[in-house]
Amino acid sequence: NAIISSVRTVMGWVPAQWLPGGTPDPLIERRAAIGRQASRLDGPLKVAGEARFAAEVAMDRLCYAALVHSPVTRGRITRLDTGAAETAPGVILVMTHRTMPRIGTLPLIGITDLSAVGNSSIPIMLDAEIRYNGQVVAAVVAETQEQADHAASLIEIDYAIDAARTRFQDARPDARTPASLLMDKNHVSIGNAERELKRAPHRVDNMYRTPAQNHNAIELHAVTAAWEGDSLVLHDATQMIAPSAAALAKLFGLKREQVRVLSPFVGGGFGGKGLWDHQIVAIAAARLAGRPLRLMLSREGVYRMIGGRSPSEQRVAIGADAEGRFTALLHTGYSVMPPYGACPEPYTLGTRALYGARSFEIMQRHLDLDIVPNTFMRAPGEAIGSFAVESAIDELAHAMGVDPIALRLRNLPERHPISGAPFSQHALGQAYAEGAKRFGWDRRHAEPGTVREGEWRIGMGCATGSFPYARMPGANVRITLRGDGTAVIACSAQEMGMGTATVQAQHAADRLGLPLEAISVELGDSALPAAPMAGGSSQTASIAGAIAAAATKLAGELLRLAGNDSPIAGLRAGEVQLVEEGIASIADPTRRESYRSILARAAREAIAVTAAGSAPLEFLKFAMHSSSAIFCELRVSAVTGEVRVDRLLGSFDCGTILNPKTAASQFRGGMIMGLGLALMEETLFDERSGRIMNPSLADYHIPAHLDVPEIDVIWTGIPDPRSPLGARGIGEIGITGVAAAVANAVFNATGKRIRDLPITLDKLL
Ligand code: MOS
Repeated sequence: NAIISSVRTVMGWVPAQWLPGGTPDPLIERRAAIGRQASRLDGPLKVAGEARFAAEVAMDRLCYAALVHSPVTRGRITRLDTGAAETAPGVILVMTHRTMPRIGTLPLIGITDLSAVGNSSIPIMLDAEIRYNGQVVAAVVAETQEQADHAASLIEIDYAIDAARTRFQDARPDARTPASLLMDKNHVSIGNAERELKRAPHRVDNMYRTPAQNHNAIELHAVTAAWEGDSLVLHDATQMIAPSAAALAKLFGLKREQVRVLSPFVGGGFGGKGLWDHQIVAIAAARLAGRPLRLMLSREGVYRMIGGRSPSEQRVAIGADAEGRFTALLHTGYSVMPPYGACPEPYTLGTRALYGARSFEIMQRHLDLDIVPNTFMRAPGEAIGSFAVESAIDELAHAMGVDPIALRLRNLPERHPISGAPFSQHALGQAYAEGAKRFGWDRRHAEPGTVREGEWRIGMGCATGSFPYARMPGANVRITLRGDGTAVIACSAQEMGMGTATVQAQHAADRLGLPLEAISVELGDSALPAAPMAGGSSQTASIAGAIAAAATKLAGELLRLAGNDSPIAGLRAGEVQLVEEGIASIADPTRRESYRSILARAAREAIAVTAAGSAPLEFLKFAMHSSSAIFCELRVSAVTGEVRVDRLLGSFDCGTILNPKTAASQFRGGMIMGLGLALMEETLFDERSGRIMNPSLADYHIPAHLDVPEIDVIWTGIPDPRSPLGARGIGEIGITGVAAAVANAVFNATGKRIRDLPITLDKLL
């Protein structure tokens, strides 16, 4: 998302008429496997316990590592005594900054170099400096995990402590508004929004706060690293397989083909499973030990050394005329982004895309704190930005005495409000209409605090969610078509539980005119044709674009192979299509030959083609966004203040839905994470010491089954004429809008406006 939008910024000077728009994918018209409720191909393996995750790979002579984290925030190591640890039972070695191999630092996630995938540019265990609380300072390698853990506790370290900056408020005076390449501009000003706001007959102007949050994927971050001579094999839990391999090769001075990253299954990523210090430490320690090595972070370790979502403080002000049309839309604020981090938490992106206004003032300021760098976490920016804006609209609607849906629809723009680009497809109005009907929005009482059932006050709320479409450059796919009428799709893509293989098998079946059962998919290995990282809700479209390109190339190969004796002889690539297990003339479908026949005549067992997807130029010309209307009904106890969510409905407009089963699961998962954002998730950060105080699932709360109500999910399903298969992203949109829908329902139930997440019971008493 961030990468794509920065490409858009860089390309912004190109006149729109010079850019190819992308013509509708012909496959939208002839879907057969696409749209089916296919079950996940990886399901049986997972249910049977046969899917091997990164920390489960068996190896001969495997040893185990444990890490030591700095308990101080800034300073340096003055004494380091590893003697007791080194002589402890089972210990093979202790690695510290004294023995760590001299390597460079990771290039931060960027746009010019696809191997620039680091989340932090801080040197990894290369010096005695401490730069944040939790920084890894030593690794112990032993015969068993228990021996490594015990020995790690024996290491003695003294630190000289320097003053550290750890308070959000202290950093404000030095806030920066960088001309960021990693998102659209940090500052956008159209008209004089402050003046328009003052003049507006209706206005709201408030501050919204969201806390820091941490990543809590079920699978802990883990690697099993093995050196084979000068080649490295890394079993990793990662959402960036090929980009990691490229980055690691550079970092350790290896050729790209000397590094193989395998990650066939990942137990949740959400933006947190990128390249961090633990992979580098494990690889270096395995090298020193001369043995394969496993490092699995503890849950606390994930909090200490993997960044989470930045806290934010956001001002949203809206001015409206007598009819409710926005005359001023202001969204400014602060979030954390240390100079050595990569994620700008673009919470104003949605504000730029969703509603029209006569004037805009948008500004993001970054604060520099001494912390583990914050990072991408499901719907970076949009998840918390939508809380602020969609709460503010609800506040304005209440102040004006109008229905909040009507107010939103009145301000839907014809074109993208900032860039002026036409929308590729946009049916938020329809999503609202269908969602409201199904949810029973007409039963809502506009006056807050009027519906009661015993101690419970009941309310309804709604909000808009939004997330930009993205398709990554550098997606490659190999199609192997076999003489027995089956095909294999291969690329290094990531299967993190969302159904990557399943959906692309459905796609390939239709693209090649084969039955779904004839397709198999190989993923999760950097030795396969390189796919981009899974991020920014872009993976499906990225790989789909590459499969489409490979299918076109395959048609050319088949024509060549068919030769002059075939019914399709003389046809050109543009004149044929792949249908019904063969290749046929588009103009005259009776001119056709089956794959089996072509391959048999050519005495070939199989043919394989590899192709890259076209440059993702569609989003440069068109505004492309997935959007949603979220509805919530809940109860608030007048006695305890606790909130119980009774019903949640998401009505999504995300283009073609490729598989209703996997898509509904994605939407629901995102919405559940949105419930956590609204009601529970909060990293308790001790601003005095710079230390996270609740680094465990006992203290950091996420929704459990009993917290999650029935979640209803519907969609418009209207294909996007500008994207492969007509599909836009569905991975991150689910979380957006949910926190505001909950907060708005809490207001409707109680008359209390909570502008400070999470909405815990103390705030409602
Ligand atoms: Mo995502 S936060 O791009 O995994």
